[in-house]
Amino acid sequence: MCGIFAYLNYLTPKKRLEILELLVNGLKRLEYRGYDSAGIAVDSSDETAIALIKQCGKVAVLEEAIKHVAEKLNFDALLETHCGIAHTRWATHGVPNEINSHPQRSDEHNSFVVVHNGIVTNYKEVKTFLEQKGFRFESETDTEIIAKLIYHFYQKHPNFSFRELVENVVQQLEGAFALCFKSKYFPGECVATRRGSPLLVGIKTKTRLATDHVPILYGKDEPPISPKEHRPHGRNEYPTLPRTGSTSEFEPLEDKQVEYFFASDASAIIEHTNRVIYFEDDDVAAVRNGVLSIHRVRRGGDDPNTREITTLKMELQQIMKGNYDYFMQKEIFEQPESVVNTMRGRVNFETGTVTLGGIKEHIPEIKRCRRLMLIGCGTSYHSAIATRQLLEELTELPVMVELASDFLDRTTPVFRDDVCFFISQSGETADTLMALRYCKQRGALIVGITNTVGSSICRESHCGVHINAGPEIGVASTKAYTSQFISLVMFALVMSEDRLSLRKRREKIIEGLRNLQEQIRIVLKLDQKVNALAEELYNKKSLLIMGRGFNFATCLEGALKVKELTYMHSEGIMAGELKHGPLALIDNTMPVMMIVMRDPVYTKCMNALQQVKSRDGDPILICEEGDAETIAFASRHLEIPKTVDCLQGILTVIPLQLLSFHIAVKRNCNVDCPRNLAKSVTVE
Ligand code: F6R
Repeated sequence: MCGIFAYLNYLTPKKRLEILELLVNGLKRLEYRGYDSAGIAVDSSDETAIALIKQCGKVAVLEEAIKHVAEKLNFDALLETHCGIAHTRWATHGVPNEINSHPQRSDEHNSFVVVHNGIVTNYKEVKTFLEQKGFRFESETDTEIIAKLIYHFYQKHPNFSFRELVENVVQQLEGAFALCFKSKYFPGECVATRRGSPLLVGIKTKTRLATDHVPILYGKDEPPISPKEHRPHGRNEYPTLPRTGSTSEFEPLEDKQVEYFFASDASAIIEHTNRVIYFEDDDVAAVRNGVLSIHRVRRGGDDPNTREITTLKMELQQIMKGNYDYFMQKEIFEQPESVVNTMRGRVNFETGTVTLGGIKEHIPEIKRCRRLMLIGCGTSYHSAIATRQLLEELTELPVMVELASDFLDRTTPVFRDDVCFFISQSGETADTLMALRYCKQRGALIVGITNTVGSSICRESHCGVHINAGPEIGVASTKAYTSQFISLVMFALVMSEDRLSLRKRREKIIEGLRNLQEQIRIVLKLDQKVNALAEELYNKKSLLIMGRGFNFATCLEGALKVKELTYMHSEGIMAGELKHGPLALIDNTMPVMMIVMRDPVYTKCMNALQQVKSRDGDPILICEEGDAETIAFASRHLEIPKTVDCLQGILTVIPLQLLSFHIAVKRNCNVDCPRNLAKSVTVE
């Protein structure tokens, strides 16, 4: 998915080369999101012009291209105040090529340039309007209309500030976007805004900021005018607009050295500063004279006066690969720690109690609800399938599990007394977010289960649980799945805390949670054995993964991992469905894996195993440690420690995560960035 990174240094001299390196580095931190081209805009040696460098392909290709413009750009020039914007593009409108890459520009002199995440849905109408005004388009993107529209407003209102121009532009746009603008008419200034796509700014100052809040200016409020204010090209007049009281609270960082880092996610910022502001939809943030101000066109009833500067807890090494070759591999092996982090401060193993601070106040309301709805996409959806049975058992409520896209297609009836869970690692998945808004409009209680603090789903939920799995960089979700799973188990435990009849069951589950860390370590020791199986499977065309009951979700999730990482066909099959079709696939050439644990459906699973074997199938078993009787039925097997039935799926999924990883490496696939996929799917 596209990535935005912009850097503004105010009274902080930097060589042009340093600025370019900083921008490229920012893009590298966003590479994990998936992209197909990259670009950068900086001031050129002639300070009244903007240089654009864009390339199709990886950031490394852009880096090479930058070296070739060294002479033209005067790398050694010291820039005291400067704004540079950069972007990685994941094509939606128009093929990946240099012209379609961002920044997109207003005209051949690059008067205004813009980087954009998201999709403008009414771009055709705006394009027709602009064409009638004489604009000629060069790209196939929806973004180009934004660059041209701001230029159009500039020509019409030459006295408008940069921020006012952007406000006028976004009022004409429909769809989802995060935008960062740069202009040759406003050197050293940057304006950024968002609607539906995430955007934040990191602030770095020499001395600690006097305040933890930045005021929000509503309507036509302006930040105080600095005596030093100057405008190049004779445009130094601010529009004379009425002021309101809120501006007097504004404390500019005037004359102080300051650096701003705008980005679509925190991983690009964290190495520079941990002080950030997450923007809300329709915030327009402008940096002028080193002062950041946040504007909103109009004020709603309970809109706040300020945006809080938050301190990120994430550390750089958390997002680096450490000793592993791939992020995904690192994340699989982090699971003994990530599951503990999910439970930390929530499960008290001594008293056998569970507390979820983020939803505590809402528990009485949830207990009175009509039904629980669990909504997500891909792996997050699988975590809902994995825990549905336990939720039904411990809450005695009807539980619906929904794919967000299908849920929206059906315009599913939702009521005020429904409780809707939105499960999302990124917290930004467009389908999940739209389903959330759909349910919110209908009055349901919205519970977010996310891994990304400050994400859209987090902010738009009434309450929620942070799964605390730590940053997940590999596109394929692994540790987030096991942490989502545990979060939903903890919720089921909270809901049943006063049910005497369930006391024994709850105790067993809590004991199971206590042992998980050690058991995951044991499963991870299977890595070499799994690698050997991958050697056998990596050049096959297909892999069927069968199971039922508490382990059906593992089959779906395992098959999804194999598909997305190895580009091999794989299918998760409900073992109870074999006779209804899939059995026809079985012969002595079809690779099959089966999960057969000693749980309530053991006999049924053994039945399925017999059916496969009697059609010449030779399944690889995932079964319980020491279960000699079951092992005797298969030529190859992986033994997994026993835990309570409803937690078994956390352990059975790990060998399949490892298997998909090893097959992908053997097939020379891009493990961390599978083709055609992106980490954060912010378009429908
Ligand atoms: C698969 C995978 C995807 C995501 C899906 C939802 O490995 O990662 O299927 O699970 O795109 O993403 P989130 O959880 O961020 O909403």
